[in-house]
Amino acid sequence: MSQEVLLVENVPVEGSSPAGGVISVWTLNRPEKLNALNSASHEALRQACADAEADDAVRVVVIRGAAPPPAPEGKRQKPAAFAAGADISEFAGKNSDDVRPFFENNAWERVWNLSKPTIAMVDGFALGGGTELALSCDLRIASTRAKFGTPEINLGLIPGGGGTQRLAGLLGYGKAMEMVMTGDMVGADEALRLGLANDVVEPGELEARAMKMAETIARKSPYTIKVAKRAVRAALDLPLTEGILAERSEFVALFDTEDKEIGVQAFLERKDAEWVGN
Ligand code: COA
Repeated sequence: MSQEVLLVENVPVEGSSPAGGVISVWTLNRPEKLNALNSASHEALRQACADAEADDAVRVVVIRGAAPPPAPEGKRQKPAAFAAGADISEFAGKNSDDVRPFFENNAWERVWNLSKPTIAMVDGFALGGGTELALSCDLRIASTRAKFGTPEINLGLIPGGGGTQRLAGLLGYGKAMEMVMTGDMVGADEALRLGLANDVVEPGELEARAMKMAETIARKSPYTIKVAKRAVRAALDLPLTEGILAERSEFVALFDTEDKEIGVQAFLERKDAEWVGN
């Protein structure tokens, strides 16, 4: 029986409005290979993205890596990992024509292009394509033993899942250059300092911290959250003056939504807002 490379669990958000909201938790499930992303992982992630996009109940997506199984007697315990990169075994002997279709249809861009908020829950190694998957998410919550890095340079490669661009955007040009050219890993404390991680907590607290952030976001209007994501994203693609105009246009348009009136009235009446999602 073939192993499911991605486990999807929809966790209900109690008291969400509109009712029935869930946090969709995706677990990369190849722990014996440190959750390295092979073709099947990409296919499963693409499908999960399509499903999440189509399902109004999904308010937030959380992506995590499966924990390593206990070591068999006499064997070394495998380390925790979010994902230790693209599956290197799929690179051997391939030329550009072999890999181009795969990289043109990869999951990193699907995750990046989701209209809904995404959180990477990073415990252990997030290397190469693993760091890139975390970078494709909106937020990264890491454990103290998280290690980020882009070691592709050691394979005679460079990041190919958007890593050069998203690292330069998130960390700035100098640090992105350092990571891409040295391939050195960045520990959790440094990741926090650099803004690569939004928060760092002990491994035992990671799930609770990430799910709490997911829940906080899942309790907002799902419509307004999508607008918020679009507006902040515009900062990455547009020059400042155009970005300001894009934000203003999104902001003004929100005055035609029911959720704006619901939110404002709830504040004035000191009640919790009951969003309708439009
Ligand atoms: N692709 C395929 N398999 C991988 C992998 C990857 N990116 N990363 C780890 N694995 C596999 C190993 O081959 C090993 O498999 P095996 O037990 O069947 O031999 C298993 O995962 C455990 O990895 P191992 O290297 O034994 O663990 P470690 O604790 O000694 O080292 C790392 C951990 C993360 C430092 C090391 O696995 C590593 O450098 N991985 C590659 C990282 C990388 O270059 N990623 C970028 C890819 S583009």
